[in-house]
Amino acid sequence: MTDWSTADIPSLSGKTAVVTGATGGLGYETALALAGAGAIVILTGRNDAKGLRAIERICAQFPNALIAYEHLDLASLSSVADFARRFAASNDQLDLLVNNAGVMALPKRQQTEDGFEQQFGTNYLGHYALTARLLQQLRRAKAARVVNLSSLAHRSGAINFDDLQSTRSYRPWRAYCQSKLAMLMFSLELQRRSDSAGWGLRSIAAHPGYARTDLIPNGPGTSTLQWRVGRLLQPLISQSAAEGALPTLFAATSAGAEPGSYYGPNGFYELKGAPAPARIMPQAKDFASAAMLWDVSATLTGVSFDEIAAAA
Ligand SMILES: NC(=O)c1ccc[n+]([C@@H]2O[C@H](COP(=O)([O-])OP(=O)(O)OC[C@H]3O[C@@H](n4cnc5c(N)ncnc54)[C@H](OP(=O)(O)O)[C@@H]3O)[C@@H](O)[C@H]2O)c1
Repeated sequence: MTDWSTADIPSLSGKTAVVTGATGGLGYETALALAGAGAIVILTGRNDAKGLRAIERICAQFPNALIAYEHLDLASLSSVADFARRFAASNDQLDLLVNNAGVMALPKRQQTEDGFEQQFGTNYLGHYALTARLLQQLRRAKAARVVNLSSLAHRSGAINFDDLQSTRSYRPWRAYCQSKLAMLMFSLELQRRSDSAGWGLRSIAAHPGYARTDLIPNGPGTSTLQWRVGRLLQPLISQSAAEGALPTLFAATSAGAEPGSYYGPNGFYELKGAPAPARIMPQAKDFASAAMLWDVSATLTGVSFDEIAAAA
């Protein structure tokens, strides 16, 4: 696994993949590599102009790429439901779902269309609802994969069940860490639920270490002291977006990726390097909290995996 690269991606001909937040950064690089391996890739995003530019860029590199762009705003449960309906209308099955979209450490508390704190709503609840709504199509594929983007930030995360939406007190990084811990707990819980219910999924989490993308400019911004100090160290501690997408691509395509596991870069502190098993903090392995988070998420989003599975 040490030298794993996009050259190791097997042919994905005939496979259908959906990538969220594919208009830039890691999502774009993930979609590009999947399309290069022959998959039918649906890039999704909230900014349609950016999405169409992403399609043009991929086609310039792979003129025969089988790709399309679809609007999907993870900060809107109705947008998630609309996308899932459109997808189901023209696709029987889904082989790969990459839950990638995200925002980080927004300086002021913002809310999604449904009144969730923006990071918890976009990074986690939107993906929870999307995965549930695509469950039938995922089950119809043979051993479909769901790849969930977490982060080193999960290490400092806690799920604050008393104030999940940070309404009483908002701290930008605390909200981000919570959302990324939630994604890792969701990824592990999805595998457990799939195994016990026989859904036949492979749920795998990934993180990119520190990758140079628009996450910081779009989130905390580039005027903070942290960013200016960090920028001096950047060449040493970060990697390109294409390199940062490798753990996601390993989780999404490698025969060696274990269901219910977590991959990140193999270098110092998992900041950069080739894909390898990543460290999972004890709070992410708390089964009781993961089950509680799952139930709360069903209530908050009004979307239940069990009900969707039963309707098959
Ligand atoms: N970069 C890192 O070092 C790092 C580290 C750990 C984890 N991650 C995770 O990696 C994932 C990708 O981030 P990135 O680094 O590639 O950042 P990025 O360059 O900012 O890309 C984020 C993507 O998510 C999209 N997005 C944001 N809000 C959305 C919404 N409401 N609906 C749909 N799409 C939305 C963005 O769309 P727009 O183009 O419209 O902004 C963009 O396409 C995130 O989940 C992030 O938490 C990144």
